[in-house]
Amino acid sequence: MSDILDWTNADLDTLDMAAYAARAETMAARLREETGAGRLPFLTMPYEAALKKQLADLEGYLDRFEHMLLLGIGGSALGARALQKAFHPSQDRPGHRGKSLWIADNVDAYALTAYMDSLPPEKTVVVTVSKSGGTIETVGQYFIIKEWMKERLGDAWADNMLLVTDAEKGFLRGEADAYGIKALPVPDNLGGRYSVLSAVGLIPALFLSMDIDALLAGAREVADVLADPALSGETLAGTQAFRLAAWGAALMDKGFTEMIFFAYIPLWASFGDWFAQLWAESLGKEGKGSQPVPAVGVTDQHSVNQMFMDGVRNKACLFLTCPSLPDGPDFPEDLPDQFAYVRGKPFGELIRAEGLGTRMALSRSGVPLVEIRMGADGPRQAGKLIGLLGAATILTGWLMGINPLDQPAVELGKRLAKARMDADGLAEEKAHLAAFLNANRDEREF
Ligand code: PA5
Repeated sequence: MSDILDWTNADLDTLDMAAYAARAETMAARLREETGAGRLPFLTMPYEAALKKQLADLEGYLDRFEHMLLLGIGGSALGARALQKAFHPSQDRPGHRGKSLWIADNVDAYALTAYMDSLPPEKTVVVTVSKSGGTIETVGQYFIIKEWMKERLGDAWADNMLLVTDAEKGFLRGEADAYGIKALPVPDNLGGRYSVLSAVGLIPALFLSMDIDALLAGAREVADVLADPALSGETLAGTQAFRLAAWGAALMDKGFTEMIFFAYIPLWASFGDWFAQLWAESLGKEGKGSQPVPAVGVTDQHSVNQMFMDGVRNKACLFLTCPSLPDGPDFPEDLPDQFAYVRGKPFGELIRAEGLGTRMALSRSGVPLVEIRMGADGPRQAGKLIGLLGAATILTGWLMGINPLDQPAVELGKRLAKARMDADGLAEEKAHLAAFLNANRDEREF
């Protein structure tokens, strides 16, 4: 079965798609320039052959461990979690016996303590993932876990550590050099939220025995045409990534300030969080953008769906489905009359019917919607989805006139937190903090 984007309910005739389609030539030229200069490794994947070799070399080493504790945050964690939930669901189910991946992507003393109390250090590999090598939420956990490993394993502690970081610089690269810790690079110019198909997401994927070749091949199905040095405007205009980008930008022009990502592939729910970071950090710039809203079918039909259907009419939707999900067991035949409509039918028919019902209802409620209908729910399709949404996000940013590859606004909160912890310098931030904290507070007990 093919993978399809269904545009039937995208409300294209109400949007100024033509204005964006007219820019395909310019966008193709920019793609040629950026990919030619090596600035878009998300599309060109120049690191692929070396990475496959590095992963093959790691395989025997990873076999020694039962647990992987991944320390990372944002783009250094969300892709790995999406893959884990999609392709290693047994860890969340009763009776799990195989390997376990634990992703520590918060400053959560309960969780960190639980890992140290319960994980067997000799059977645990700790993978610290940080492109910059200096993200305090990640490196802070590394400091504590490193002490734990040293206490429990003595001189052998570094054997159970693995680093994924910049090839040349940063604190973690220094750790790799100083202690001989195995380290794989995050390729240059590959920002965190675009990096799941590098060592960042593929080391955990390898640990959980996923089909990495299929993931990469799926992404290439989308990326290769966009990375073609001879890409023409006409070819670009015909790609689904460009169409999605034109749609996304045209929607924003019309006041659609929210983009729902409604996943009707339950195991792929965490792709919603991955997409939310991708879309928000890439496109929320200069007062522009649309807020990504991850939702899961059918669960969220009973939570946030009322707002989607009848709240502010500012929402569009990417609706992810896979008609070939397994049927599961049949409903019994002897059900009460009130449930006669499911008697003897496969359990899986319910999600297909509910997905259709919700999709149609959203459409009728004025929510422009593109259905991303996957022909199967395997790793090739997941790679394809990653490629499609990443490419569409970059192109949407370009069409909006912003830079989809940076995230400058998130720095202020980080600087203020450092000022609060009394880091050197940061005089201005410290002054602002003092003013903020000394303002007349309006605090009431409840
Ligand atoms: O997408 C991004 O670039 C960010 O979300 C980063 O992934 C996140 O801030 C973590 O950064 P780092 O990998 O440098 O620790």
